[in-house]
Amino acid sequence: MQPAEARFLASAEGARLLAAARSLRDQPVHRRAAALRGLADAERARWALRQDGLRARAAARIPAAERLLFEPDALEQASAWAVATERARRWPGPPDALLLDLGAGCGVDALAAAAAGRRVRAYERDPVRALLLAHNVRALGLEARVEVVADDLGRAPPAPLAFLDPDRRPGGSRRRRAAESAPPSAAWARILAPHGAAMVKAAPTDRTLGALGVPLEVVSLAGAARETRLYFGGWEARPPRRALALPSGLFVAGEGGPPPPSRAPEPGLWLLDPDPAVRHAGLVGDLAHQRGLAPLAPDLPYLLGASPPAGCPGHWLPIEACLAPRAVAAWLRAREVGAVEVRARGYPGRAEAFRRGLGLRGPHQATLVLTARAGRPLVLAGPLARTLE
Ligand SMILES: C[S@@+](CC[C@H](N)C(=O)[O-])C[C@H]1O[C@@H](n2cnc3c(N)ncnc32)[C@H](O)[C@@H]1O
Repeated sequence: MQPAEARFLASAEGARLLAAARSLRDQPVHRRAAALRGLADAERARWALRQDGLRARAAARIPAAERLLFEPDALEQASAWAVATERARRWPGPPDALLLDLGAGCGVDALAAAAAGRRVRAYERDPVRALLLAHNVRALGLEARVEVVADDLGRAPPAPLAFLDPDRRPGGSRRRRAAESAPPSAAWARILAPHGAAMVKAAPTDRTLGALGVPLEVVSLAGAARETRLYFGGWEARPPRRALALPSGLFVAGEGGPPPPSRAPEPGLWLLDPDPAVRHAGLVGDLAHQRGLAPLAPDLPYLLGASPPAGCPGHWLPIEACLAPRAVAAWLRAREVGAVEVRARGYPGRAEAFRRGLGLRGPHQATLVLTARAGRPLVLAGPLARTLE
């Protein structure tokens, strides 16, 4: 996005064109474009349509999105509002302590922290994003609590709290590893050293983060892994690893140790498919030890127990049958099952092809867990899985 586009979108005229684009959202694209071209020149009409598309996409995870302005790569990496709000509550020390947002993008974290009552100084070196961020602060009436600094985060004077959200798409292309983000993981400890308690946000799937040797926490929202938090500096003692499932707030903490011995599944046992935060944090083994569960197989995250322990993040299924794949269709037919929820992990075939081949008919629903044990494909069947959150 060029500065002229950002400046226009943040102007009163831009706001009017965006309101028109919003009111036409249910019209076909060519009709919306023609209507907006009747109100502004073709370029501005295009800008308004594109921004309206970003707002519509953002609205799924950011409730105030329709009042905010976004840039595509910054939105791609922006936190979900619920995750950012939970982060805002976690900072130690007095509630009025200054929080630095280092690499603020279009500002979801800064806005959520300020909306939760924090005082924020937000650094963003990209002038377009800094401009959009300043607009967003005004749009939510948070000017008294958020100061926007369009500068390099390395120039931030020491502060008691610091949040660093490195760019995982520097130059527009996605980087999977923290070493390639901007700033890279090798620089994080040095950047954060002058500040007090500090947190870095990184990708939930980045397996290289453990090598940094700081406590980490993987956070999920509504069953999808969202981020890994790394804790630097002045926090009270923390467990080496933690998994947090939102919105429930259920968590698992531990060392990331190995699981207990596996056991064979059987009807009457319960199967836990742990929340992705638990898996990505490497805490399946710890969860098993803490709750007296056993893995279905040494290399799989599914856990078995005699009853569903309350407060475990994930999905539970009471096992009604342990079947060879070829026996599944007949089992479902006998129970008049017309719809199945399929979960698959470790299964050697293609889960969707298997589901299509079942010839489902009937009023009932079931869950099938497609997996393998001791080198053999295996299907566990039961009623619909439950979330105990
Ligand atoms: C992942 S985005 C931040 C997203 C934000 N937390 C949110 O939820 O909306 C990271 C931002 O850091 C900025 N950034 C990267 N290196 C920077 C630096 N050295 N100084 C200031 N900003 C920087 C990038 O321009 C980018 O906008």
